[in-house]
Amino acid sequence: MKPTVVILAAGLGTRMKSALAKALHPVAGLPLIQHVLNAASGTDPEKIVLVLGHQSDRVRNAVHESRVEIVLQAEQLGTGHAVRQAKEAIAAAAGPVLVLCADTPLLTSGTLRDVIELHRKSRAAVTLITAQADDPFGYGRVVRGKTGVMRVVEEKDATAAQKKIKEVNAGIYCFDPKFLLSSLDRLGKNNAQGEYYLPDTIDLARKKKRGVAALRCPEPDEVMGVNSRVDLSRAEAVLRRRINGRWMAEGVTMLDPGTTFVGTGVSLGRDVVLYPNVRIEGNTKIGDGSIVYPGSRIVDSVLAGSVTVKDCSVIEESNIASGAAIGPFAHLRPGSVIGEGARIGNFVEIKKTTIGAGSKANHLAYLGDATVGRDVNVGAGVITCNYDGYEKHRTIIEDGVFVGSDAQLVAPVTIGKGALIAAGATITRDVPADALAISRVPQHIREGFAGRRRRLRQKK
Ligand code: UD1
Ligand code: CA
Repeated sequence: MKPTVVILAAGLGTRMKSALAKALHPVAGLPLIQHVLNAASGTDPEKIVLVLGHQSDRVRNAVHESRVEIVLQAEQLGTGHAVRQAKEAIAAAAGPVLVLCADTPLLTSGTLRDVIELHRKSRAAVTLITAQADDPFGYGRVVRGKTGVMRVVEEKDATAAQKKIKEVNAGIYCFDPKFLLSSLDRLGKNNAQGEYYLPDTIDLARKKKRGVAALRCPEPDEVMGVNSRVDLSRAEAVLRRRINGRWMAEGVTMLDPGTTFVGTGVSLGRDVVLYPNVRIEGNTKIGDGSIVYPGSRIVDSVLAGSVTVKDCSVIEESNIASGAAIGPFAHLRPGSVIGEGARIGNFVEIKKTTIGAGSKANHLAYLGDATVGRDVNVGAGVITCNYDGYEKHRTIIEDGVFVGSDAQLVAPVTIGKGALIAAGATITRDVPADALAISRVPQHIREGFAGRRRRLRQKK
């Protein structure tokens, strides 16, 4: 029977000391809650219910999962109270109810399937996941008796002896829906925090002589809860290890995987080489044999095979064909399309511009809202003047054009095939194919002027 999943995400996450709701803090480029949703989706659920409170609209808009139902918890009175808001879905559940917290991003679907399976086999009223923690501080401690788990005691309610227990509650449970429903109204708040604690359902199950089962998670990392910024950085490190390990197994070289960030939505080809301090984010795809040198960031872009991105370049929402070379210190802004074998060099900025195969802009140029043909040479310091203060205009440079250094192309303007633009020209009108366009003030020579000036200065 398919599980109904309830994810608790109403809390602000006070310990994060943030204006942003905890569930929205990103790890490995995705909000915490999205990682939990992804794990939940892997259990083939009947339904996923999100319990939201703080910044509910923002959380709702941030998650990508079509099957979710939202319920609101107006006041955050504890995890037990949060689950109570999902009563309708619990009453309607034909299968087990899986309760998860939005702050456990390292959880895998495999572990969730294991807890569902153990729950089914043991016929327990509630099956919880526990882990052996080196530092159990902050977690609920699992108190065991002769017949197994008796109850969970929160850090703030624990006795000195209980605080020494290293087995912790992961905050992940599989419930018999009828038992859960009847327990929710029986939870009290007579505890250190004055909250309705969901783990108290375990005590209730014991009192009703119902079974309690526990799955010990062999990977304590997996059930780690993120409560603070330090936890967040630890989760990031674990996810980075997991993601990078997977890509290295697929044939990617990482010179320093500890400083290489690859987002969850990224895909990398074989023999891709990533140098230290590289960030590949969003929906980026990089083809076989491409190399990214240190300090570069690539977001939502497609790089074909054998592309070279030299040091400290930024590439956003762009498309780069095979054999092209970018950087060092290049900035490809959204809408840049770079053709096969093209070269975009030092301090070149490109925006909403197509560069044809084999073309070069090697130094200090700005090309915005332009279409550049094949085998074009864009000299050092060339600038498309694409903005008149109100509107953007296009520049078209046809195949085989040579644009001399420091030319300004005042858009809208078209440079015809094979034309030659002299260095320093300011081009305001279209240039026909194969023509030379030159716009310069005549050069004057005054013989001996500099020498006379120097001698005058020395006399003073
Ligand atoms: C909880 C457990 C603890 C367990 C730990 C595992 C309780 C009382 N304690 O503690 O035993 O070891 O998780 O990580 O359950 N939430 C709501 N509404 C509320 C309160 C919380 O939606 O009124 C949500 C939070 O947004 C969060 C989750 O429930 O996603 C857990 O809350 P949190 O405050 O982090 O619980 P812990 O103190 O970590
Ligand atoms: Ca927590």
